[in-house]
Amino acid sequence: MSFSKDFFWGGATCANQSEGAFMEDGKLDSTIDHLTLGSRTEPRLFTETIEKDIIYPSHTAIDFYHHYKEDIKLFAEMGFKIFRMSINWTRIYPHGDELKPNQKGLDFYRSVFEELKKYGIEPLVTISHYELPFHLSKEYDGWYNRKCVDFYLKYCETLFSEYKGLVKYWLTFNEINSAAIDGNAYFSAGIYSVREKGMSAGIIPGEEDLDQLKKEMQSDKLKQYQALHHMLVASAKAIALGRGIDSNYQFGCMIAGICQYPLTCDPKDMLLTQSERQNVFYFCGDVQVRGAYPGYVKRYFREHDIAIELDADDEKALKGGCVDFFTFSYYSTGCVSTHDQEDKTAGNLIFGIKNPYLKTSQWGWQIDPDGLRYFLNEIYDRYQLPIMIVENGLGQDDKLEEDNSIHDPYRIDYMRGHIKAMSEAIEDGVDLIGYTPWGCIDIVAASTGEMKKRYGMIYVDANDEGKGTFNRYKKDSFYWYKKVIESCGEDLS
Ligand code: BG6
Repeated sequence: MSFSKDFFWGGATCANQSEGAFMEDGKLDSTIDHLTLGSRTEPRLFTETIEKDIIYPSHTAIDFYHHYKEDIKLFAEMGFKIFRMSINWTRIYPHGDELKPNQKGLDFYRSVFEELKKYGIEPLVTISHYELPFHLSKEYDGWYNRKCVDFYLKYCETLFSEYKGLVKYWLTFNEINSAAIDGNAYFSAGIYSVREKGMSAGIIPGEEDLDQLKKEMQSDKLKQYQALHHMLVASAKAIALGRGIDSNYQFGCMIAGICQYPLTCDPKDMLLTQSERQNVFYFCGDVQVRGAYPGYVKRYFREHDIAIELDADDEKALKGGCVDFFTFSYYSTGCVSTHDQEDKTAGNLIFGIKNPYLKTSQWGWQIDPDGLRYFLNEIYDRYQLPIMIVENGLGQDDKLEEDNSIHDPYRIDYMRGHIKAMSEAIEDGVDLIGYTPWGCIDIVAASTGEMKKRYGMIYVDANDEGKGTFNRYKKDSFYWYKKVIESCGEDLS
């Protein structure tokens, strides 16, 4: 048997894509609350003020805020051992820079954790998942400003003290490496002075006007790397702080799993693949696991005139806050090449070149289970730390039948392939300890804000406009995943 009995089977969501309850119980607006609904072809847009007739997907989402008991019950029925969720910073510190936390926000997450505990489900908590109090973005320019480190640490201190005994596993930032990717300055790092059109290259399928779109999404690299540096320092300091509050706490990094292959066997393509992987993926892992900036990033900074400001004690801080385990998201892979190549593909956060051996999802993301085995081996070879895959899944427009059933064989196929790949990787020697497929219950998509891009094993009756009964229904994949968990990954039929 590949999977151990204590393997963490579960699912994942985040606050801004699930909770809704905008401005309720003291919550104020976060950066993502200012982003409109987009689509495969239309990027989400930023609006300075919240307009009445515009749809902002995070304001309603799936109303987890009022449905969490029912949802957790369904997770328990599926047999979840772990549930990845995030805390919305603006429920705890609505502006981000006040001195006292919002009691109602603290109470809400306490109830969620208690509910999980009732069913023996371990929470895996992301402290910051693509939302920053809008006030910190507008007044301070988000993570570009070093002051955010202190605001974040105050927020963390509140969480670590408040939820001692209820939470053990923490992730400091979601997909921290995305902060330096084109198009993500505002979305990932709350940099108000760089509000790109569209949040990331992942939104657009990449078939039309790609060059123009890429130009529009060019962000400010210096600001982004400076912001990322502050986030890395904040993460390390938070880990040191947390360990001081509870020595049982376990901390993980969470990196967007961007895995690219060389399109050809030209050694130049190989070198390009390596440098892309280093700069886009391994950079943050190296800092968070090993505690220092790697040489290839220093070279990249030198050659691209990126002179970020470091404080005297930053190096020490980074060394003093290395993670206990490694986590990443994995949806798809792409290719890179030094040769002219027209066939582009969409993917999570970045564009790539099409791989002729792979099929794509409805949203144009390439499906590659073998790549997961390959990637897991690579990551484990490098870090030798326990690994969790904290996001993986297929976004598809499901159909609710008249008898309330939902037949999603494509999702079962996708998950079966990836779970098989995980089992192979474990056989290869990888210390994989958990799997939390993304959007285990349907939530709004991050890149487009659409509700119809569904990942869940539980269907939520809501549409892109945030309308519907919000009733929950079990998809075929619900029963299938329940069986997988019951058999500890043995029965994938
Ligand atoms: C990851 C994010 O990048 O991809 C999630 O951490 C996001 O927040 C997920 O939802 C899938 O992307 P999308 O755009 O299909 O929701």
